[in-house]
Amino acid sequence: MENVVEKAETCPLTELSPMHPELLKCPYGMNRRLQREAPVFQDPLSGIFLISRYDDVVAMAMDHKTFSSVMPGGGTGSLASPDHEIAAIMEQGYPNVSTMLTQDPPLQRRYRKFVDGAFSPANLKALEPFIEQLSNQFIDDFIDDGQCEFLGAFGIPLPLTIIASQLGVPTSDLPLLRKWTDAFIGNLSQQLDRDGQLNAARDILEFQHYFVEKMEERRAHAEDDILSKVVNASIDGEKPLDNAECLSMISQILVAGNETTSAALTEGMWLLINNPDQYQLVRQDPSPEMINALVEEILRITSPSANMFRRTTRDVEVAGVTIPENSVCFARFAAANQDDERFEDALKFDITRTNLRDHVAFGKGVHHCLGAALSRREMNGGFQVIFQRLENFRLTPGAGEPEFSANALLHGLTGLQLAFDKIG
Ligand code: HEM
Repeated sequence: MENVVEKAETCPLTELSPMHPELLKCPYGMNRRLQREAPVFQDPLSGIFLISRYDDVVAMAMDHKTFSSVMPGGGTGSLASPDHEIAAIMEQGYPNVSTMLTQDPPLQRRYRKFVDGAFSPANLKALEPFIEQLSNQFIDDFIDDGQCEFLGAFGIPLPLTIIASQLGVPTSDLPLLRKWTDAFIGNLSQQLDRDGQLNAARDILEFQHYFVEKMEERRAHAEDDILSKVVNASIDGEKPLDNAECLSMISQILVAGNETTSAALTEGMWLLINNPDQYQLVRQDPSPEMINALVEEILRITSPSANMFRRTTRDVEVAGVTIPENSVCFARFAAANQDDERFEDALKFDITRTNLRDHVAFGKGVHHCLGAALSRREMNGGFQVIFQRLENFRLTPGAGEPEFSANALLHGLTGLQLAFDKIG
């Protein structure tokens, strides 16, 4: 069988299809090639312009007037119009409207104002004991086995439980939140077949009905959670957000709050297995400073939010290429974080870099991640407990190499069979 990943490093550029599932899983060699030879490259399959150099991606993220985040389809991730059957399912729910991630200033800022406070330093500080307690609880469940599937046993439940508590959703409904997250992610992946799209539409409809009911409850009795903040949000006497706007914001917080942090935690463990010298550095000195450096380097290398959509509002020249008005582009945050021009020997996992925090894993400019501080705290707290209780990480004997999922926007492992020794 042809090796698409190797071929991508040498084939004529006219034959390169960056949306090939194998290249979405393993884009590293291709990214370097694009940075060198085609920093602005129009994908022949999708027509999307891929922008891959650090400086260009940052400039693009800072110029929201030229690179709009409002996409056709209200930011569902789907560029094609839904077919008749899918449209009929969607009609039973609420329309997709553009809010924070999928909106431009000044409206984008207005939506963000309602939730920014939920992630204030004081609120995050108050979450620390909860993060520690949950991390210990998940580890208790598998520590005596000497092994676990880390994504399912720790990577997913930690951010999911925390975001559920922040939203105000009971723990008994965590499986539902997970199912709905998968439906949104499936749409974003651009890889669903028709049955997959139908199922995703049904699950998203279920998500909408569930949350509209919860929203009604919070309108009647506000509680100290994000859901109450969103539904009762009104600044300077403006009319409160309607159901479609609230659902859009909740879905963004739910999806962004889960998948990305799960991916970074899990690939972080894989990086520690593959880089024993770096693991030894943290093992010998598991201080908050060292764990913080580890977290930043994990964020840079993993960049779970690998690509984000933008649409040009005018003809614009980037790296000598004119991108026509109304073109769909990708701000390639993961490729930017692997740019040798910015990070020396960029593919090397090195927690002693002096410019660790220059990474753009959380984006840049007006859309800079709402949950960056929350996610950093979850990762720092999670790794702290992991290093207190587990050591000598390795792949479970007999388990194959972990695999990445094929997703046009998000990058992460499908699982990690982890073996370890128990400390003490
Ligand atoms: C490792 C974890 C995370 C990564 C890598 C990540 C990455 C990103 C990136 C790259 C953006 C900018 C998107 C753009 O420019 O179009 C973004 C925005 C956003 N993130 Fe995160 N994120 C993470 C965790 C979270 C968490 C925990 C939350 C929820 C609380 C969250 C909520 C959001 C929201 C709502 C936006 C849109 C903000 C806006 O457009 O105003 N993210 N994130």
